[in-house]
Amino acid sequence: MPTIKTRSQQKNAFAGGSMEGSAELGVLFGCLSGVCGKCATTVLSGLNNLSAPTEEEKAMKLDANRRLMCQAKINKGTVKLDLD
Ligand code: FES
Repeated sequence: MPTIKTRSQQKNAFAGGSMEGSAELGVLFGCLSGVCGKCATTVLSGLNNLSAPTEEEKAMKLDANRRLMCQAKINKGTVKLDLD
């Protein structure tokens, strides 16, 4: 089962499921549609376990290790976020 981690917490996720469960780990969400950028989060490890960046993410020109948690899907393994 895929896992979303921070430095101090973790949460199980469904393969192919959204990262919106990361709200419980401290990610802040706004629009939920890839527009506001509020959910942009640095991924410390496991970037390859996420789906490819969406057009909304590409348009935002985020650093390569930052993803929009409302857009990314977790496919497998562990994704560690830069959160306490
Ligand atoms: S919540 Fe607005 S971009 Fe993700």
